[in-house]
Amino acid sequence: MKLNTILLSLATAGMMLTSNVALASGGGHVLKHANVDVTNQEQLLRGLTVFSDVCMGCHSAKYITYKGLMDYPELGISREFADELRGDKPMMSGMITDLSPADASESYGKVPPDLSLIVPGRRGGADYVYSVLTGYAHDHNEKVPDGNYNTYFPGNSIAMPDPLGWLDHDAEDTAELEQQAEDVAAFLAFIGDPHQNERRAIGKYVLGFLLLLTIVLYLLKREVWKDVH
Ligand code: HEC
Repeated sequence: MKLNTILLSLATAGMMLTSNVALASGGGHVLKHANVDVTNQEQLLRGLTVFSDVCMGCHSAKYITYKGLMDYPELGISREFADELRGDKPMMSGMITDLSPADASESYGKVPPDLSLIVPGRRGGADYVYSVLTGYAHDHNEKVPDGNYNTYFPGNSIAMPDPLGWLDHDAEDTAELEQQAEDVAAFLAFIGDPHQNERRAIGKYVLGFLLLLTIVLYLLKREVWKDVH
């Protein structure tokens, strides 16, 4: 009886804790789910395009070099495409924004964080990025000091002006907005842990190998013990 009560209160406390954590991570809201597939080359390439066309106006991904991008089979990008992306920057340089930290602080009041590790670094990961990008509520802008109200950013007041805002004027564009937000979240999830696919593939081989080994050892044991009665 006593043990039951203890277990029950522990479980309840655990549930309350986890639901609070989920709420806290989304500025008071449960995050939206993003359909990201880090093995989907088309999605990753679309995400890379959004990242370099839009996000890199302000953010960097300094741990990701152009050479590195070429080396990932998931992306399958050519030398020409990498050259096009990097412009006149060196091949081994990370994806650096042209916006200087000083200019960024002056224009936005905050320095846009480097996005190389944003997905592993934030609770909710890709869902968080997707939720923030689709979470602007312009009709609430007057409620926050910097004039950008975001439902999912902690505190709701975000210094980043709605980067995909030009897309959400009618229903068709909303679908496009969600698509681009999902694609760039997928790209950021990929660069946050570029070897995850490899690891998963190796994991499968290892499991297969262990299974095979178990069978072989079992057969061996039967063979060795067969005459012992
Ligand atoms: C006009 C400049 C600008 C553009 C373009 C921009 N951002 Fe931002 N971003 C910012 C600033 C400034 C912040 C810091 C916000 C804050 O701390 O209030 C920020 C913050 C963020 C955050 C939240 C980081 C955190 O600390 O949790 C994410 C995620 C993000 N940006 C993703 C993106 C993505 C993805 C794109 C491209 C679709 C993008 N941003 C385009 C300026 C920009």
